[in-house]
Amino acid sequence: MVRTWEQAWGEALYGEGGFYRRAEGPAGHFATSAQGPAAGLLAGALLELTRRESLTTIVDVACGRGELLSSLAVRADPSIRLVGVDIVERPDGLPARVEWVRSPGGAGLPDLGLPKDALALAHEWLDVVPCPVAQADGQGRLRTVLVEDDGTETLGDPLSGPDRDWSDEHWPGPHSPGDRVEVGRTRDAAFAALVDRVGSGLVAAVDYGHRLGSRPAAGTLVGFADGSVCRPIPDGGCDITAHVAMDSLGADELHTQRDLLRGLGVDGTRPPLELARTDPARYLAALSWASEAAALTGSGTGDFVWALRRVG
Ligand SMILES: C[S@@+](CC[C@H](N)C(=O)[O-])C[C@H]1O[C@@H](n2cnc3c(N)ncnc32)[C@H](O)[C@@H]1O
Repeated sequence: MVRTWEQAWGEALYGEGGFYRRAEGPAGHFATSAQGPAAGLLAGALLELTRRESLTTIVDVACGRGELLSSLAVRADPSIRLVGVDIVERPDGLPARVEWVRSPGGAGLPDLGLPKDALALAHEWLDVVPCPVAQADGQGRLRTVLVEDDGTETLGDPLSGPDRDWSDEHWPGPHSPGDRVEVGRTRDAAFAALVDRVGSGLVAAVDYGHRLGSRPAAGTLVGFADGSVCRPIPDGGCDITAHVAMDSLGADELHTQRDLLRGLGVDGTRPPLELARTDPARYLAALSWASEAAALTGSGTGDFVWALRRVG
């Protein structure tokens, strides 16, 4: 079947038999800051952010199988409410204090009850919200990319309507033949929908991103399966992801993960060698902390962008 990328991608990830409905969850295919070895450190930083902002609820939207919430549950004061949102049933083994809300997936969100004083975190959600993909033809004119179930692409109609408006404003030409545009309109709408579902507090979307002036001309659409990048084939066999135009979301502030986490006290500086001699146990603990901090703030993950929006 030939469809737009937006349609094929949505079906491949969230349809019946979609990639994200699989039992193994995202952690079965790739590590992220939220469920990898540095998840505990990220959880601590989020609690520090929650404390500084006087928030009392953390809603983890697109939380996978609740891995980060499990890390939060062992660290957070019992007065902090923890809520997980993803497209599957409540995972077995999630700590009892974590509430669970099921979501339709993609750009769709459930009613979250307008939580007050809430941190609504969406870590690596927007990059898996399907978006239209366009490609410049031989004349440099943007046309919608169509895709078959086996990943074969063809060019469809010239980009028009809201998709064209979005790309003119946020990803302007001139485009050379073969250049791609990943139309962020759907991600902007998803972010706005999350803001609308929070009564008051802070919304934080964290993702691989780009900003005007440094858009990737070739696009970023890829597949992911079993720990490796692969060709994006919309058959439910792999994740499909594209970086996010973070500056079009309508956030109040954009920060690199490096800057934001350092501001919250996450520091990858190694402990002085002298400590190894005077207090080996403390040295080893500090070394392990520093290496986890470096994993969150070093090149790659440290370049993630945090889009923050205050509500109420
Ligand atoms: C790349 S994984 C990230 C998981 C986790 N946040 C992390 O960083 O490890 C994307 C997750 O988003 C979930 N997801 C996608 N759209 C969603 C939606 N509208 N509501 C809730 N979860 C969604 C998927 O089911 C999947 O678990």
